[in-house]
Amino acid sequence: CGIIGYTGNNPAIPAIVEGLRRLEYRGYDSAGVAFEKTQGLQVIRAEGKLGALDQKIAGLDTASSFCGIGHTRWATHGLPVERNAHPHMDGEGRFALVHNGIIENYAELKAELIAEGHVFLSETDTEVLVHVIAKGVSLSGDIRKGISWALSQVDGAYAFALLSRDHPKKIWASRKASPLLMGVGSEENFLASDIPAFLPYTREVVFLDNGDLVEMDASSWQVFDSITLKPKAKEVRHISWDVQAAQKDGYKHFMLKEIFEQPKVIRDCLAGRIQKGRVVLTELDALDIPGRLTIVACGTSYHAGLWAKYLLESWARIPVQVEIASEFRYRDSVFLPDDLILTISQSGETADTLAAVRIAHEAGVPILGLCNVVGSSIARESDQVVYTQAGPEISVASTKAMCSQMVLLLLMTLSWGARKGTLPEEVKERCLEELAEMPTTLERDLPVIRGKARSLCQEYSDAKSFFFLGRGQNFPLALEGALKLKEISYIHAEGYASGEMKHGPIALIDPQFPTFAMALGDELLQKVASNLQEVQARGGRIIALVNPGAAPAVDESWVLPDVWGPLKSFLVLPAVQLFAYEMAVYLGKDVDQPRNLAKSVTVE
Ligand code: G6P
Repeated sequence: CGIIGYTGNNPAIPAIVEGLRRLEYRGYDSAGVAFEKTQGLQVIRAEGKLGALDQKIAGLDTASSFCGIGHTRWATHGLPVERNAHPHMDGEGRFALVHNGIIENYAELKAELIAEGHVFLSETDTEVLVHVIAKGVSLSGDIRKGISWALSQVDGAYAFALLSRDHPKKIWASRKASPLLMGVGSEENFLASDIPAFLPYTREVVFLDNGDLVEMDASSWQVFDSITLKPKAKEVRHISWDVQAAQKDGYKHFMLKEIFEQPKVIRDCLAGRIQKGRVVLTELDALDIPGRLTIVACGTSYHAGLWAKYLLESWARIPVQVEIASEFRYRDSVFLPDDLILTISQSGETADTLAAVRIAHEAGVPILGLCNVVGSSIARESDQVVYTQAGPEISVASTKAMCSQMVLLLLMTLSWGARKGTLPEEVKERCLEELAEMPTTLERDLPVIRGKARSLCQEYSDAKSFFFLGRGQNFPLALEGALKLKEISYIHAEGYASGEMKHGPIALIDPQFPTFAMALGDELLQKVASNLQEVQARGGRIIALVNPGAAPAVDESWVLPDVWGPLKSFLVLPAVQLFAYEMAVYLGKDVDQPRNLAKSVTVE
């Protein structure tokens, strides 16, 4: 979900709605705003995307409201309908609240409040939170103390922003395990769950920590410890992201723009990290070379981790296990003395991955974070962090972030391999040089790859299911290809290790169940070719990514330029991304905001 708050000398609603538009990628099944009117607080909410809220607001006179809060929701408690949309109010209209996260003991608290006469209008945990705050303020007669008391009553994760009818032009906010930051402007201040929300207005940012309680108005802000209420000193940091980067730049969708940004992403990831033909990753210097590496991540970031395992084991001779964060967090893992945990997360806010960081922390295992968002929770809670430099990723389906993660994982492998002396000669000689060429190759070939992707859609758009097959490093890319197709075109797809097909899934093959294969000119090509013959023998149609010359006979050979060794992945990745993209466009789907998904999943 996304949160925005504004207090200043300009009308609040346009800034809040603009902020919500920039946050829509965090969830969009309903949205709402609360703002000050002379007669009290007004709340407007609407089910569905932001347009529905916009229409409701359009008919209102909001020009004289200078303070307000807004929310775009991704449902966790209660159906995505208007009564469950945020903001929520206490029963007396004194407070309005927007909230991200989950209040775990909300059912017990709600039962107590009902017994005391409180009446609830929704099924949400958020409505319970605003009632607890109202109770706290009534008990203590002071808003700060009341909030502090309320926070002592709730278990779980939250980031919230609160308006009080009796304190015009002020916003209160606090966070615990959900992201929240402040934007400091001139005679205006902002709160948001994510930086792009207020980027058009200010780049001066205060990152809030767990247990911070903020009180702000147009010209001042203060941060307190939410338990002791003692003031806390905070640093204002300047963020260099520009608004332009968060716009579509003439592309039809953010996803397409971000796929086409991959050449720049590779350049940016390499910038300053190669000196005199060697990798310079000072972030790694503070850590011992891991005896064993456990990579923990979710979704696309997990696939980047799987991809890296092949390189790390082969070139740096480091044993690697790659774990899905939601599984890792509830398993009783065994840690070894020279373990390192590497968490990979574009947003740096994924709740399951963050939980893994905390588990590792408790176990005393050093943590290295690979994140894109500067100052994000995972970045801040890791012992060391390497930033991927991919710039803001807006499309819900992650694309350029994976490319950036692969570059950095490759550099980490080279760095550790060089320190250990395990790098093969050919790798030492060629890898960095070939990688530096990759942006130019991609700039030349991405339009061609897109053209091929588009030409295949019509013929394959009737498929109800797809297999994505690969071996070795192409196996994680097969998983990623299947994930992308599922996410945005809603065609069922399964990524599988080519050699494992014969142990069951091959039973599904028929002419309506096509296969998308990675059959590039590497040492496993002959093995893949045999697997594909097994598919063909059952009447299955095959699209195969191949290199010139070495292609097995299939229905559709999709020829990619031949590049050195594992760098082939940097061409395979955009091919599967563009295939999913063009298929979704052909089928008329909402590419940037696929149903049921959120960009950043900050709940369990
Ligand atoms: C969500 C997104 C995915 C993403 C995953 C992990 O599910 O929809 O695209 O890969 O979270 O996100 P992270 O920010 O931790 O990389």
